[in-house]
Amino acid sequence: MNQAIYVQADLALEADRARLVSEAVSAWGQLDVLVNNAGISKVIPHEDLASATAAVWHELHEVNVVAPFHLVALAESALREAAQCRRAGSVVNISSHAGIRPKGASIPYAVSKAALNHMTRLLALSLGPDIRVNAVAPGLVDTPLTAGWTGAQALWRERAPMHRAASPDDIAHAVAMLVGSDYLTGEVLLSDGGLNLT
Ligand SMILES: NC(=O)c1ccc[n+]([C@@H]2O[C@H](COP(=O)([O-])OP(=O)(O)OC[C@H]3O[C@@H](n4cnc5c(N)ncnc54)[C@H](OP(=O)(O)O)[C@@H]3O)[C@@H](O)[C@H]2O)c1
Repeated sequence: MNQAIYVQADLALEADRARLVSEAVSAWGQLDVLVNNAGISKVIPHEDLASATAAVWHELHEVNVVAPFHLVALAESALREAAQCRRAGSVVNISSHAGIRPKGASIPYAVSKAALNHMTRLLALSLGPDIRVNAVAPGLVDTPLTAGWTGAQALWRERAPMHRAASPDDIAHAVAMLVGSDYLTGEVLLSDGGLNLT
């Protein structure tokens, strides 16, 4: 069945998170997969500590860390029901290579993604076997977020074994692979075209 619905929600707001999950469940009568993809970034040179204000830390933490956790909590019972009727529910968090290596647009961003990676493993441990929890950690992806990131684009073209940034489809395929793999849980799949090898 090729159908989709759109629900507008500001994931910085708790009430919107709850509405998003309940509208998805009431539209489909079930919930099998939750992909926590929405995220925000801030470009701040790592050595510019003054610009990484408390407000920046709180804003990034709310959307990149608290919202994914809260969405899993809100979806937990529906995802467990999936396990009773079909197969384990599946959560995939979109983190970043910046959460694995000391890189990234800013320190608050990188730390938020490192937290998301750790949360992925902690939730996998707590929620199995009914719910599997994995993450994809992209390197550079061609999206509106990175449209002007010419330095990073050149780096990937020149140094990564794949000689290009990822397309959104590349990341979607990695997500589909994790969703389709019934025995994988607690994995953080680095999808950076091999840049980490250089
Ligand atoms: N692009 C990369 O190179 C790259 C690399 C590593 C990881 N990532 C991660 O991949 C994910 C997608 O990033 P992207 O590159 O597609 O970024 P993007 O082009 O900036 O898109 C971000 C998406 O998140 C949504 N979003 C942001 N804040 C939200 C909020 N408070 N409530 C609801 N939705 C919100 C945006 O919705 P609106 O458009 O409505 O604002 C947009 O759809 C993020 O988690 C990002 O950290 C990206």
